[in-house]
Amino acid sequence: MEDFNVLEAELVSAIEAATDLVDLDAARTAALGRKGRLTALMRGLGELAADERKKRAVVLNALKDRLTQAVDARRVVLDTDAINARLATEMIDVTLPVTYETKGRIHPVSHVIDEVIAIFADMGFAVAEGPDIEDDFHNFSALNIPLEHPARQMHDTFYFPENTDGERKLLRTHTSPVQIRHMQSTEPPHRIIVPGRTYRCDSDQTHTPMFHQVEGLMVDTETHMGHLKGCLYEFARAFFDINDLPVRFRPSYFPFTEPSAEMDIGCSRSSGELIVGEGENWLEILGCGMVNPRVLKAVGLDPAVYQGFAFGMGIDRLAMLKYGIPDLRAFFDSDLRWLKHFGFVPLDVPSLAEGLTL
Ligand code: PHE
Repeated sequence: MEDFNVLEAELVSAIEAATDLVDLDAARTAALGRKGRLTALMRGLGELAADERKKRAVVLNALKDRLTQAVDARRVVLDTDAINARLATEMIDVTLPVTYETKGRIHPVSHVIDEVIAIFADMGFAVAEGPDIEDDFHNFSALNIPLEHPARQMHDTFYFPENTDGERKLLRTHTSPVQIRHMQSTEPPHRIIVPGRTYRCDSDQTHTPMFHQVEGLMVDTETHMGHLKGCLYEFARAFFDINDLPVRFRPSYFPFTEPSAEMDIGCSRSSGELIVGEGENWLEILGCGMVNPRVLKAVGLDPAVYQGFAFGMGIDRLAMLKYGIPDLRAFFDSDLRWLKHFGFVPLDVPSLAEGLTL
């Protein structure tokens, strides 16, 4: 019987010589296509005597299988090469340093969070975090807000559908639940700040359903209101970079602090524009107070031994005040022109040593 070795070697070497998918397809068609060499031989089978035809059909079919395999194997090699070549050209070295030419900008909220962290880190506060999806215990009851407490209405809470066990998770309405989580999982003394997202079902020019807060918590054996006031005075002056910034504390109410206060900073509105640090008016910037003994008990601390203070403030509003940003809603529009205008160069990382952004 005719020997097909020479033909096979020739076709296989054409397949293996293909340097791209177009080449490979040409080599495949030359062998196995409608007008291919092997196809022509297959067609010729019909002219042979039955016996001879059977034998040769077996040989040709085996040859066809080997050629198909050779094409497939070559395709895998070429595909892999193509992917590797693409990866090599499209590779981004994420370890390269940022340069001043970088077009991206840091969002004012992220920037202000960095500023607040820098100020409190200098006073010895560490950053803590907690989940956005909370349970009733951490967001409310451990903070002395039992069911039916009117403060729950004030929070306009987003609830999830009930679980099979009847529990309803919620989106945290403030960063205060992280006070509870932190005190449950670590030993006092505590000195933390908690920047993060918070949620309330509320939307107008000064409220968005998602907003940002920074919580502060300090717990030790000799903590008093003087520490709270000194710490927050110091913060406000450093943040607005106004040494004689007028500050006052007004009595207020929060279920989780006792006594409670709100801190105002001096400002003027007379020119129609809000100017921080001068004038006759006051502007509220945060809520605070001494940690309520009931909260300490809820996390297993003895109020006869430990006292603490806590505070919470809205980051978005601080950013608007400091950087003169008029509309809160624009913060979350993802408009690149806005970000380019109000955003910060990535290399301007705020620190007390280098200076905050002024
Ligand atoms: N959690 C309060 C709020 O969202 C703020 C606050 C925190 C007040 C800690 C006192 C102490 O309004």
